[in-house]
Amino acid sequence: VKKIILDCDPGHDDAIALMMAVASPEIDLLAVTASAGNQTPQKTLNNVLRMLTLLGQTDIPVAGGNQKPLLQNLQIAESVHGETGLDGTELPEPAFAAQPIPAVELIAQTLRASDEPVTLVVTGPMTNAALFLSVHPELKDKLAQIVFMGGAMGLGNWTPQVEFNMFVDPEAAKLVIDTGVPLVMAGLDVTHKAQILPADVTAFREIGNPVAKAIADLLDFYHIYYSQPKWGFKGTPVHDPCTIAWLIEPTLFDTVKRNLDIETTGTLTRGETIIDYYELTGKPINAEILLDIDRTKFVDLITQCLHAFD
Ligand code: BDR
Ligand code: CA
Repeated sequence: VKKIILDCDPGHDDAIALMMAVASPEIDLLAVTASAGNQTPQKTLNNVLRMLTLLGQTDIPVAGGNQKPLLQNLQIAESVHGETGLDGTELPEPAFAAQPIPAVELIAQTLRASDEPVTLVVTGPMTNAALFLSVHPELKDKLAQIVFMGGAMGLGNWTPQVEFNMFVDPEAAKLVIDTGVPLVMAGLDVTHKAQILPADVTAFREIGNPVAKAIADLLDFYHIYYSQPKWGFKGTPVHDPCTIAWLIEPTLFDTVKRNLDIETTGTLTRGETIIDYYELTGKPINAEILLDIDRTKFVDLITQCLHAFD
């Protein structure tokens, strides 16, 4: 069983990642922190609380994170995730409150209390992770790894070369990478292959429990954005759940271990992740990069997780 802290910005795909982390017996979800990204920090925090209420997990400690990226202003993805950040379904109002401490302190407390190393999963911009490692460098060794959704080895989804989470806070990602914490990257190379097809959504809805229905509604809304012909997708890529799926069942993925860095100054490429695929630089390996996924088994895993709420 892997102990994790999930730092997320729900966000439709973040919500599915959260659901899987709660459902899976392979994962022990110690705490959840909210990041500013897909929506404002107030909304993403409220969405964490609403999702955990729906999932019946009102005892998991939750904290709100930084209000904005390290250097630049916050840019949100309302065009993808709607006005609430989780448009498309009716979620219950939060039945519990966030802790009265910031995300970095909840992460620190959780690590201090754990007798074994904890994995930090980041499915939004890296702001909270970067601040945590800056404020509490003494706790770095209590992190087993950081598993994150972000970046790509090729195309971007927000600008031609840059993925959204890296676009929002490139300096944060740079800071995290430079600490040398072992990284696992679920970038667009793999997440664009992690597509949920319309028939899968129908099957999720037919599971019939309230969680499965809400996830099906969320996927229907999320599909609106990704059904635009420019993407050329048959279904909806659910990026963030790849992180949790990798922790539950790494055999679903093909990966390579390489050096990872990020561009923070390029005029066209600020936020582009740089993977030394052909090992041209001689820089040390610091990341495992997920490149391919067994899509059918991934959908089976989500199905299995949804049945945990029967
Ligand atoms: C990432 O950006 C957000 O819209 C998603 O939640 C995901 O974390 C994909 O680029
Ligand atoms: Ca996200």
